[in-house]
This record gives sequence, structure tokens and C-alpha cells, in this order.
Amino acid sequence: MTGFRVGEIFYGGYSQIAKVNGDFLVKKPKNLTSKQAMTLGTAGFTSLMAAFAIKAREELLLGEKVKNVLVTGATGGVGSVAVMILNKMGYEVTAVSGKDSKTEYLKSLGAKNVINRAEFDKDPKLIDKGLWDGVVDTVGGKILANAIVQTNPTGIIAVCGNASTNELNTNVIPFMLRGIKLWGMDSANCSIKRREFIWGEAANLIDFDLLEKSIQTISLEELIETYPKILKGEITGRVLIDLNK
Ligand SMILES: NC(=O)c1ccc[n+]([C@@H]2O[C@H](COP(=O)([O-])OP(=O)(O)OC[C@H]3O[C@@H](n4cnc5c(N)ncnc54)[C@H](OP(=O)(O)O)[C@@H]3O)[C@@H](O)[C@H]2O)c1
Repeated sequence: MTGFRVGEIFYGGYSQIAKVNGDFLVKKPKNLTSKQAMTLGTAGFTSLMAAFAIKAREELLLGEKVKNVLVTGATGGVGSVAVMILNKMGYEVTAVSGKDSKTEYLKSLGAKNVINRAEFDKDPKLIDKGLWDGVVDTVGGKILANAIVQTNPTGIIAVCGNASTNELNTNVIPFMLRGIKLWGMDSANCSIKRREFIWGEAANLIDFDLLEKSIQTISLEELIETYPKILKGEITGRVLIDLNK
């Protein structure tokens, strides 16, 4: 179970046994363990959703093959798993990160290039040189606005998050001149049919041995010290809660 606002307006988050609305449940594929499923969690699920949205350019829309893909907030939960999946799909991944010290980590996940976030944190041009066939954005604001004006014709931008801000100031030119698509990712209310498809693909696209290396396992009590770090964007990868710790 992910999404449906469980842990927000419904009880059931951070528990081993929970009574939940049966309509929220998806049968776990046999090739995933419970730990692997929750290591991915909502973030990993959203990364998979975003990767399939980008793949839609070549499959669903029968457009050109996707080659270059940008991932922003790349060391975060959504970003790091997206880097891994998009590389596995055969795309050249460029990661945008505020953490210079994590360049080697991002390369180990499959990023070909790593760009410092500062290069995207500036006022965007009306339209810029087209560089990306697809974008997974987890940050919003100027970073997303710059990604939009750098997206190639018919490119798809999967809008996942607002780690920096809810704001987006952009213009219509890249949409009219390049036919780009801004596609919002809503993991919380995604249909059961789509959830089953996405979970079914997880084991094919994710290297869990690699992912395991960047997981921090903490106790429920340690969450209190972890939340401020999440809000400051200081976390790398995923944080797993061991309720027995
Ligand atoms: N649409 C959905 O269904 C869905 C599902 C899951 C999550 N989300 C959203 O997606 C976003 C990412 O989630 P997550 O789990 O990956 O979060 P996370 O693990 O906290 O990672 C966010 C990353 O964004 C970057 N960042 C943080 N603060 C920033 C700032 N002020 N300016 C620019 N970059 C900043 C950092 O990466 P670098 O240091 O590498 O730049 C950080 O590691 C969140 O906004 C979350 O709410 C949406």
C-alpha cells in the first residue's frame, strides 16, 4: 500500500500491521520482497511512474526515441531511483544535484553526467538550446522552468515534486515551438490497474543490491532527528524505518 493519503489523513503509516481500506491494496508481485517494496515506497513508485511517462514519447505517442534525460533533485528518494531506472531503460541520464560530494554516488547509480544545481537556479530564457528528450523534476521553481526551456521537440517533462517550491514561472513558447508536454505525476491517486503494472515492472528495472547500499535504516524514534534533514534537502537516497530497532 502506498498513497491514498494513508499516513496523512488515514492511519496506517509506519506500522507493521494496519487495518486499511481494502480498495487501497495492491497485491505484491512475487519477485519483490516486502522490504524491497517498502524500500521503494511512494518515492520509488513515483520514479517508475515518471520513467514510464518519459518512455511514452516513443511508445504511446510513437515519437522519436528518447536519448537524453534530465533528473533534478537527483540524490533524493525519487531522483536517485529515477536515475537508476532511466539508465536501465537505456537512456543517457544527466543528474542535477546540489551536493557536489555525491557525484560519484550518482554515477554509480547510472548517471552519465552530473550538473551542479546552481546552473539551473537562475532566471530562464524564453527558449534555450534543446538538450533533453525527457525530464524528471522533483524540485519545481527555476530548476523546472530551466528544464522546460531546454527540452527537445516533443519531449516529456514528468513533474513529480516541489522540494524547492510550489511556484512555476514559465512561458508558452517552448510548448508552441517544440510541442513539449508537461505531465503531472500523482502517485497517491493513481488507478489500481496502473499500480499493478508499475509494481510488476519494479523487479525488472531496479537493482536492489545497488539500492541497498544507499539506504539508511533507522528506528521510529530516530525519525524525529531525520525529518529536519529531509526538509533541508540533506538526505541522500531512501530512509527505511525498522520498527523492531
Ligand atoms: N507526485 C507524487 O506523487 C510524489 C510522490 C513522491 C514524492 N513527491 C514529491 O517529490 C519531491 C521529492 O521527493 P523525495 O522523496 O525524493 O524527497 P527527498 O528525498 O527529500 O529529496 C529531495 C531532493 O531535492 C533536492 N532539494 C531539496 N531541497 C531543495 C531546494 N530548496 N532547492 C533545490 N533542490 C532541493 C535535493 O537533492 P539534490 O541535493 O541532489 O539537489 C533533495 O535530496 C518532494 O517534493 C515530494 O513531496 C511527489
